[in-house]
Amino acid sequence: MAGPQELAAIADRAVAEIGACADAAALEAARVRYLGRKDGEITRATKEIATLAAKDKPAFGAAINEAKARIEAALNARDAELRGESVGRTLRDRIDLTLPPRPVRVGRLHPVTTTIREVSRIFASLGFETVEGPEIETDYYNFEALNIPPGHPAREKWDTLWITSPLGDDPAKPLLGRTHTSPMQVRIMEQRRPPIRVVIPGRCYRYEATDAIRESIFFQYEGLAIDEKLTMADLKGVLYSFARQFFGGERSVRFRPDYFPFTEPSAEIAFSCFVCEGKDPRCHTCGGDGWIEAAGCGMVHPEVLRRVGYDPSRYQGFAFGGGIERLAMLKSGAPDIRLLYQNDLRFLEAF
Ligand code: PHE
Repeated sequence: MAGPQELAAIADRAVAEIGACADAAALEAARVRYLGRKDGEITRATKEIATLAAKDKPAFGAAINEAKARIEAALNARDAELRGESVGRTLRDRIDLTLPPRPVRVGRLHPVTTTIREVSRIFASLGFETVEGPEIETDYYNFEALNIPPGHPAREKWDTLWITSPLGDDPAKPLLGRTHTSPMQVRIMEQRRPPIRVVIPGRCYRYEATDAIRESIFFQYEGLAIDEKLTMADLKGVLYSFARQFFGGERSVRFRPDYFPFTEPSAEIAFSCFVCEGKDPRCHTCGGDGWIEAAGCGMVHPEVLRRVGYDPSRYQGFAFGGGIERLAMLKSGAPDIRLLYQNDLRFLEAF
């Protein structure tokens, strides 16, 4: 007759066999072998309980229950495993090639990116190389080297976002988000010798209330040309040629005097308003005057040249700087700069 140890040994053997069953039929056979009503090994042992002395019955009964419970648990676990395997096999065998595929969403370039590329391409055709520069600048490059000393009223117009350096602040070299790309004029002149022809697209920062044509984070493109015989006529020619290539013949161009501390003389270039064509005195986009200022420009100030060690009696040059978003707006017809940065796919997918 089987005692509690034998029952545990039967259960061990059963669990091992069950774990090795390869399919549902083998599993059912194992169940019958151990728990089958008529002739299962455990069933037979259960019947022997009647022949035991009363004192031995409880321990034997407990051993039977434990053996049964372990075998049942093993049966259930293996059953679940086998089912999982068969579902996996069925799915593998039945790939339905007639199902329509999931739609692939194709990304596209943001209008600001396409505009930057277009600007670079056009200036490249005029002999200008595209370079980039730091968005975080020192006070020196953003202001001082451009003839804007501390206290100069032009600083007010560009009162801006100052930055604390994680490496510790040097009071002699305060950092800021550059307010324009013009500091790159100075960096490039320091690095190279004339002739120079570069265009610098990049992000700028200003402490600014947002409206239809102004954002506090925006892009500019800067141009710089230095050579021995450059004049205002070259500047005008380059900018007109750019405007014609960028817009075709559709926009009128206005060129008129302006002031910047780092150019002399200075000028401003504006394009006719694409929303109202100058016909709506209450136009949101141009403010009603029919023109959208697109770039500041001028002949590089002799003082700026001197500071980087260029002899102004030998070298002259011109510089210009304008907003990328304005160009993107003029080109795309977006009446509000904020549309460019709201990430609304209905707008972005139109380009
Ligand atoms: N940096 C000037 C601005 O942001 C534009 C400019 C660039 C003017 C180059 C003259 C020459 O307003």
